[in-house]
Amino acid sequence: MLKMSPQGCPILLLLLLTKSVFCSKPGLEIIPSNGEIYLGEGKDFLCKSTVEATLKWMTDDEDIEDEEGRYKQKHIDESVRSLYVTASKIEPDRVIQCHAETESGEVATAEIKLRIIQKPTFVKDVKTRKEFDADSTAKLPCDVQGIPKPQVTWYRYGMAITPLPGHLSASADGTLTIEKIQLSDAGMYYCMAYIRERNEMAYKNVSVIVNAAPIVHFNTTNPNITSKSNTSFTCFVTGHPEPRIMWKKGDEEVPLDGQKYALSSDGLELTITELEKSDEGEYTCHAINNYGEHNTTLFLQVMEVSQGVGAGVITGIFLLIFLVTLLAVDLTCYRTRRRGFLMYLNTNVLGRTTPRVKLEETDIKKETSDKSHVVNISGIDA
Ligand SMILES: *[C@@H]1O[C@H](CO)[C@@H](O)[C@H](O)[C@H]1NC(C)=O
Ligand SMILES: *[C@@H]1O[C@H](CO)[C@@H](O)[C@H](O)[C@H]1NC(C)=O
Ligand SMILES: *[C@@H]1O[C@H](CO)[C@@H](O)[C@H](O)[C@H]1NC(C)=O
Ligand SMILES: *[C@@H]1O[C@H](CO)[C@@H](O)[C@H](O)[C@H]1NC(C)=O
Ligand SMILES: *[C@@H]1O[C@H](CO)[C@@H](O)[C@H](O)[C@H]1NC(C)=O
Repeated sequence: MLKMSPQGCPILLLLLLTKSVFCSKPGLEIIPSNGEIYLGEGKDFLCKSTVEATLKWMTDDEDIEDEEGRYKQKHIDESVRSLYVTASKIEPDRVIQCHAETESGEVATAEIKLRIIQKPTFVKDVKTRKEFDADSTAKLPCDVQGIPKPQVTWYRYGMAITPLPGHLSASADGTLTIEKIQLSDAGMYYCMAYIRERNEMAYKNVSVIVNAAPIVHFNTTNPNITSKSNTSFTCFVTGHPEPRIMWKKGDEEVPLDGQKYALSSDGLELTITELEKSDEGEYTCHAINNYGEHNTTLFLQVMEVSQGVGAGVITGIFLLIFLVTLLAVDLTCYRTRRRGFLMYLNTNVLGRTTPRVKLEETDIKKETSDKSHVVNISGIDA
């Protein structure tokens, strides 16, 4: 009986040996030569002899009997016998032999090593969503099986996570530990299980949610804004679940009418239009969720620049009305009495003649009247 080294199972060597040393004996071959079977699957092996022979399958020097869910043998022909092996459960590696005996009594044996293997497989109920409170210690298990045991690597943003002493660490069983977890640690993580020898891998996404009290801040310090202009403040908020925002002016809630005071759709930007002195004051952005509340305040100073301009305009308008009235009065004087500033302009600055003719006419009239007066006088005299 030929016994081959059970390790490695070099079929070629076996064939060479059977051919060279026992060339009169049957040449035996088990196909396929790879004895690996995935857990839960089955595999057919053929034992082929070069000559007609009685073939049988053996393990541990005992004949293999057909067994439900494990072994099923079949006589194909005088030189081929099959064995269907089902890997229904995890079992230790074992050696399976094919034994051949010819009618003339020559014997030969071939063997392979059966090995049950498993792809990286996640335990069914691995949670894909994990929720933690801020500052707690988060443990993210990567419950994966595989034969041989897969190597586990955690990734975030597509990059392998590097351990950070005191914050991030991975244990031998593949659990990722995040100490004092923060909002910034929230997001999508995934663990990759890898079996190098067969280049098999599997991924599992884990969405990490961190519950935290809100924190708010403005990105501007106390602004000075001129009146009549519009202004807006953006309140930057962190926290989970998403905090509710409240805007206050002093102790009162800002009356959000959508016109004078308007909020952006996300509620984080307050716009105040047509600023007035009365809009001056403390504005507070207050955020609240189930885990806490926080607020931040700024002081808005409204500078009344347009007030001075307004007074000037009013003075200007009064001055204009005064001048127009004056002109109207003067024009009336000029028309009716031939006096006033326009009259003066006409005679002394423009040097017009017409008024002088008129003046002469007046003089003549005056003369005539004087004459008649004289006549009258003379008449009286006469
Ligand atoms: C894991 O998440 C990524 C996006 O972050 C997505 O593209 C991928 O399909 C997800 N895989 C599984 C198995 O859910
Ligand atoms: C504040 O944030 C808003 C909105 O992101 C931006 O438009 C503005 O320029 C920021 N202001 C400063 C002073 O950073
Ligand atoms: C706003 O005006 C006040 C007083 O006029 C001044 O003390 C303060 O520095 C000004 N602030 C800014 C941001 O210009
Ligand atoms: C202020 O906002 C109002 C309403 O949106 C707009 O009609 C007005 O033109 C704005 N004024 C300035 C100075 O931008
Ligand atoms: C801001 O928060 C403090 C402390 O929680 C609180 O005393 C104060 O009333 C808050 N201010 C406003 C305007 O909500």
